[in-house]
Amino acid sequence: MFPLRRNRRLRTNESIRSLVRETIISPNDFIVPLFIVEGKNVKDEIASMPGYYRYSLDLIEKEVKELWSLGLKSVLLFVKVPEDLKDNAGKEAINPEGLMQRAIKTVKNAVPEMLVMTDVALDPYSAYGHDGIIADGKVLNDDTTALLAEMSLSHAKAGADFVAPSDMMDGRIFEIRSLLEDEGFDETGIMSYSAKYASAFYGPFRDALDSAPVDAKDIPKDKKTYQMDPSNRDEAIRETLMDIEEGADIVMVKPGLCYLDIVRDIKNVVNVPVAVYQVSGEYAMIKAAAEKGWLDHDAVILEQLTAIKRSGANMIASYFAKEAVKLIS
Ligand code: PBG
Repeated sequence: MFPLRRNRRLRTNESIRSLVRETIISPNDFIVPLFIVEGKNVKDEIASMPGYYRYSLDLIEKEVKELWSLGLKSVLLFVKVPEDLKDNAGKEAINPEGLMQRAIKTVKNAVPEMLVMTDVALDPYSAYGHDGIIADGKVLNDDTTALLAEMSLSHAKAGADFVAPSDMMDGRIFEIRSLLEDEGFDETGIMSYSAKYASAFYGPFRDALDSAPVDAKDIPKDKKTYQMDPSNRDEAIRETLMDIEEGADIVMVKPGLCYLDIVRDIKNVVNVPVAVYQVSGEYAMIKAAAEKGWLDHDAVILEQLTAIKRSGANMIASYFAKEAVKLIS
């Protein structure tokens, strides 16, 4: 064929490259994770996530207004729960006056059109740092899903548009959907963390919320009995198809970069939107290497986000959202 076919012709200059470009990232692609703490005038940098902060409610207003002005239209809320409110029953998780419930109202008040998604899992509320209720050294499935449904309902009542269960208990999507329907919240969506792996890349997030599993007798030391084994691929499809059957509107693969094969597998078999979570450890790696001058920070961010979208993601939860939209605008 050569020289009739020369692939480099389509790479000659930026005009032709932009004409044939297959993947474009835009502000529409992003979900912005936000960490919220109690207090006033708190903007607290997370040590293992340079440039990322925990905000108190008074400052979150300004932050979401800024996000909106950048074209970022969805946020995913996480709260750092005071130690004395943690237990093994998720009592604070369903408190109508809890930090999450107030945060939802605060964001909606500041920018009513902002899509508010909320993390649904027990770990920030758990005295043991687990996503479920613990008994006899085990994380109880069905007791936990009942509580997660109550938690979701409480978020919906506070005004959440989507709840995002990140716990990986079996049957939680069904439990949540059923309760939301029974209570008249048919418009509240579910973005399920469907294929969530037991990953070492969540470390900085657990620092941010002080939510790591505690090291104690009869407490599982990791999350491997509920989060997925990084070795598995078929299982991700099984998990995802079940969540769709149970009522998930959006499914998610998490983390991002190491799991883009899974994203493509899932994209090829489902017909609901697929989200990818580029997690805290992925953020930290880029920041650390860039700080040392070993990587071109901006170029690497855009390359990774583009790769995530190219793999099949319809949307990306990313700590780089704000920086990325500034780079592409
Ligand atoms: C809570 C939750 C976690 C993350 C999102 N929701 C931590 C975990 O499962 O331990 C991780 C996000 C990140 O690392 O950026 N269940």
